[in-house]
Amino acid sequence: MAAHIIDGKAIAAETRAQLATEVAAFKNETGVIPHLAAILVGDDPASAVYVRNKERACEKAGMKSTLHRLSAETTQAELLDLIAQCNNDATVHGILVQLPLPKQIDEQTVLDSVTPLKDVDCFHPENVGLLAQGRPRYQPCTPRGVQVMLEKSNIEVAGKHAVVLGRSEIVGKPMAMLLVQKGPVANATVTICHSRTANLPEITRQADILVAAIGKPNFVTNEMVKPGAVVMDVGINSVDGKLVGDVDFDAVAPIASAITPVPGGVGPMTIAMLLDNTLTAARLAAQ
Ligand code: GUN
Repeated sequence: MAAHIIDGKAIAAETRAQLATEVAAFKNETGVIPHLAAILVGDDPASAVYVRNKERACEKAGMKSTLHRLSAETTQAELLDLIAQCNNDATVHGILVQLPLPKQIDEQTVLDSVTPLKDVDCFHPENVGLLAQGRPRYQPCTPRGVQVMLEKSNIEVAGKHAVVLGRSEIVGKPMAMLLVQKGPVANATVTICHSRTANLPEITRQADILVAAIGKPNFVTNEMVKPGAVVMDVGINSVDGKLVGDVDFDAVAPIASAITPVPGGVGPMTIAMLLDNTLTAARLAAQ
């Protein structure tokens, strides 16, 4: 049986419409407009597209967004100065520093400098710590997007074996934390695999839910997937000018029970979750 194709675009649109209603109610109640400050350093074309999409999504949800564009030659001190201004600006609720950053800038130092209450990416150690303890302040955007897609697709997660392919700080690790924690759309048995994992296909074939987040185009083949598994593809790779995921979709879709496409799968969910975190940030500031 062919897999159910999980429509990330539709689920993201539904989530954003719901969010727009919540933003309107919050504005009514408090007179405050949730405000995201995005910082883009350099001229990476993919990053410019992401940031523009974030701005548009904010606008559509009734939120304010400010884009700070800095040149590729920006020094770390200049960037830290701008972040300090945003940290101290009471009208800014969420701060997003678009990654990757130019090589003269230390990413960790910059991400650590965002005040935890405005850290809507959930990259600050305080927020990662809260997440690890099962009491998240913010939900990491891409992993949370995957979890919402599982929820909206009525996929049972509790007691299942979820295998996360990739151990990045942005996706792999926080994804594993969300799925293993107590709560709805969680309580899974979780394995994290990475570049040094031995007998990788043997492990991925045990997955009831397989999350691919390694950044290698078409890496997951049908031999690596158990028939009937749910396959969530976080990969966004450009091959000959075309976007492809980490999963060989044509090979895997015939044996999976459900699968996300690329594009139109996990990607659109990330922005929806960022907006959700920005509203949370505005609520925390209003308290
Ligand atoms: N670059 C690629 N993904 C992300 C993300 O989720 N957040 C930020 N800030 N930069 C990114």
